Amino acid sequence: GPRIRLHHLQKAKDEGTKFAMLTAYDTMMASIFDAAGIEVLLVGDSAANTVMGYSSTLPITLEEMVVFAKSVVSGAKRALVVCDLPFGSYEVSIEQAVASAVKLMKEGGVHAVKMEGGAYYAPHVRAMVAAGVPVMAHIGFTPQAEHALGGYRVQGRGDAAEAMLADARALEEAGAFTVLMEMVPTDTAARVDAALHVPTVGIGAGGATTGQVLVWQDMLGLGEGKSPRFVKKYADLRSVVAGAAAAYHREVLDGAFPSAEHEFGQ
Ligand code: KIV
Ligand code: NA
Repeated sequence: GPRIRLHHLQKAKDEGTKFAMLTAYDTMMASIFDAAGIEVLLVGDSAANTVMGYSSTLPITLEEMVVFAKSVVSGAKRALVVCDLPFGSYEVSIEQAVASAVKLMKEGGVHAVKMEGGAYYAPHVRAMVAAGVPVMAHIGFTPQAEHALGGYRVQGRGDAAEAMLADARALEEAGAFTVLMEMVPTDTAARVDAALHVPTVGIGAGGATTGQVLVWQDMLGLGEGKSPRFVKKYADLRSVVAGAAAAYHREVLDGAFPSAEHEFGQ
């Protein structure tokens, strides 16, 4: 079908239907998710964790994000591709935010960017949108602010819900096409969704948001250790891959691989 565009996501909000978003960092996974009908692919700065093995998202650079962005764009025929502005690429000034977003679109080829932060960043959103860059806002728990927020903690509980509503409204007013909420109580996320005309996306934010997003390695069970509460594991890829690697290893050592069918004759 035709490329998913912003108006398709807005239509979902207007008609009360849903859309799905997954992270992607490389062309093959992007093409699988794209063919499966996932509407939005996120080149997340979670690549810092899932691909590069850092313990936070802080170290990944704009240049590294461009590489992942190009890889995902090449595999996405239909999905809208959104790329994170990494830590340090937008905080310094409005000009820095515009320059970084333009780089992700021009060199990475993505269709939109995502930026962490609340009402303080509304002027940055307005300037990027004016430059022709669609912006997805990201509020609630924002991993780039892990140290400022005191670790991975639910945001927008109790009295903090009002401040979150104000952030969401300011970002929408500045032109954000979607507001993503991470680790937010279901009731707060529902209030934000109801207050906005634009769609919302949730991760650990309950079922009232227009869209849902998960990190693919969590969703497909590739990682080791326990997952956060908001993750649902739809597959156990880690055991599939480990089993296949062990079978290959065994067959190489005992000579079962390669057999005649994998060899060239004279
Ligand atoms: O980088 C990422 O994967 C994200 C999602 C968790 C929303 O920002
Ligand atoms: Na991110």
